[in-house]
Amino acid sequence: MTAVETCRLVPEQILVRPAGNADLLSIVAIEACSFEDPWPATDFNRLQRSPFCEILVAESTGDGICGFSVSRYYAGVGELLNLAVLPGTRRQGCGKLLVETVKSRSVIHSCEQLSLEVRHSNRAAIALYAKSGFKATEVIKEYYADGEAALVMVLKLPEKMETDHESP
Ligand SMILES: CC(C)(COP(=O)(O)OP(=O)(O)OC[C@H]1O[C@@H](n2cnc3c(N)ncnc32)[C@H](O)[C@@H]1OP(=O)(O)O)[C@@H](O)C(=O)NCCC(=O)NCCS
Repeated sequence: MTAVETCRLVPEQILVRPAGNADLLSIVAIEACSFEDPWPATDFNRLQRSPFCEILVAESTGDGICGFSVSRYYAGVGELLNLAVLPGTRRQGCGKLLVETVKSRSVIHSCEQLSLEVRHSNRAAIALYAKSGFKATEVIKEYYADGEAALVMVLKLPEKMETDHESP
């Protein structure tokens, strides 16, 4: 899939799994067409090697990688550091599936909460996180390099989670 192609996904054929080194090119390509200030490939390489971080990819059988998440689990706190879905496959549940998987993974890592920062103007992401149960807790002024504020969103996690998304 290219950044501009629209692709109809079959929900049952989307698998979320840990990223391998061979997936990094696809991840960097999705990052580049999703953000005005994309992370460089070196950031993904560094986080891929960190024992506290996990990069997951959503892969559609036959269509390839359509999204990714980057999360960190440390000292009882989970952080969703990055999330993006290929433009042509958005609004088909891929982002929600990744978020739900990160929630389950945070519980497995004994995290009591999962938090994230999102651009104040990013209505799509804020709607997705709200739908996934996150609550806005704080606004951090001038958080981003261009001066935009960040909204901090937090999800309190249960000790155990009954979901289908525990084993990526
Ligand atoms: C934010 C993003 C990851 C959402 O991914 P997605 O696969 O399109 O999301 P989903 O299809 O799982 O959407 C789940 C719900 O989120 C909300 N949502 C998602 N996109 C939305 C949009 N453009 N406008 C309003 N609500 C939206 C809806 O409630 C949606 O449920 P619905 O489709 O049943 O109405 C995607 O738009 C993206 O990659 N954006 C660019 C990168 C980015 O901003 N990442 C977040 C950084 S914090």
